[in-house]
Amino acid sequence: MLEGKKIVLGITGGIAAYKSAELTRAFVKQRADVSVIMSRNATEFITPLTLQTLSGNPVYTDTFSLTGDWEMEHISLAETAHIFVLAPATANIIGKIASGIADDLLSTTVMATKAPVLICPAMNTNMYTNSLVQANIQKLSNLGYCFVDPTCGELACGTEGQGRLAPLDNILEEVITILTPKDLRGQNVLITAGPTREPFDPVRFISNYSSGKMGYAFAIMAKRRGAAVTLISGPTSVTAPSGVTFVAVSSAVEMRDAVMKHVDESTVIIKVAAVADYRPASMADSKIKKEKGEFTITLEQNPDIIAEIGKIKGDRVLVGFAMETEDLLKNAYNKLMAKNMDLIVANDLSRPGSGFQYDTNSVRVIDRSGDVRKFPLMSKINVADRVLDRVKKLCDERGLPRP
Ligand code: PMT
Repeated sequence: MLEGKKIVLGITGGIAAYKSAELTRAFVKQRADVSVIMSRNATEFITPLTLQTLSGNPVYTDTFSLTGDWEMEHISLAETAHIFVLAPATANIIGKIASGIADDLLSTTVMATKAPVLICPAMNTNMYTNSLVQANIQKLSNLGYCFVDPTCGELACGTEGQGRLAPLDNILEEVITILTPKDLRGQNVLITAGPTREPFDPVRFISNYSSGKMGYAFAIMAKRRGAAVTLISGPTSVTAPSGVTFVAVSSAVEMRDAVMKHVDESTVIIKVAAVADYRPASMADSKIKKEKGEFTITLEQNPDIIAEIGKIKGDRVLVGFAMETEDLLKNAYNKLMAKNMDLIVANDLSRPGSGFQYDTNSVRVIDRSGDVRKFPLMSKINVADRVLDRVKKLCDERGLPRP
């Protein structure tokens, strides 16, 4: 996701500086070109050699300022960076940037860059909540600097509160989001994900194997591309992505009600959820006891949510998924036409690594003309990205969002 991107990572002097080593690795794993600048205090917490080894690039510190042509180099870093990340950022560096002070290599380079700057504060909770620090953060936010807020928890100084450096995954996600072109800005994308649970007593239900990974990948990718995303999800163990409106539901009926509440405002609806077609006709008040012989559950039909949307969708883009074990393309195309979808994404379950639970999927995307595009096995994030390319094209053709 970060191939060809130049990240300048600025590290300042706090105990969380050791986490910058992991962050550097995470950026490099995403194929970014990482250059590190350390404040003098940061070098007391972690050595430049560690960061140099992990980034594969020279590390810049103030001690270099006496030795060579650092001045030209830091200007070149400021100019070539696609993004500047300050992690951890102390109250001191935040205060300096907010006040326009450039008195060392790091603050000078931040001042000289035109790239987006992402600041990840980490400090003692009393410092973080100090009104001066908060005023500086507010001032910088108003000026367009981006922040990943610190989280709550036990701090290195022994106190509890907000001030811990945000989880590295959150910082990485924010960097990717900032660097992704916002070609879906203005679109309201409604996504359903995960399984539904259809209970027949207080402790048992009928469900399926959906993990939610495919639907959540759509939510992440649509958000990265600038859409306002509402994610309606059945029960999963996947963490809800940040920056999206998240609605938790359990049964198909709950999912239907939640979807219908959001249809009006949506320009795009993507139904990835594996919705149970049937639910138990009755629900016992207490746990059903085991008895001799067979046990029968009578099932009744659940609402067909996508069919209901298909009837009222107007020019919204409607994308469904198909899960078939035989005649995949024929059955998927029939579903697309019968339910008035614009695209249907058919899971190729014959490919190992496709469908439920995996981080990867192999799909075919079918449109109303019957055109079939076959995608090779790829990560669910990449599947979502490719399908969103098709969605974007349809939005453009329909002039969505309407002015
Ligand atoms: O969650 P993962 O583990 O990542 O797995 C992803 C997935 C395999 C669940 C996903 O890729 C997928 O295929 N989801 C849809 C599975 C499914 O329910 O297929 P279907 O052929 O039964 O339904 C067709 C379409 O109708 C789907 O868009 C479904 O959301 C929708 N539907 C189905 C039944 C119903 N009562 N209401 C609906 O809206």
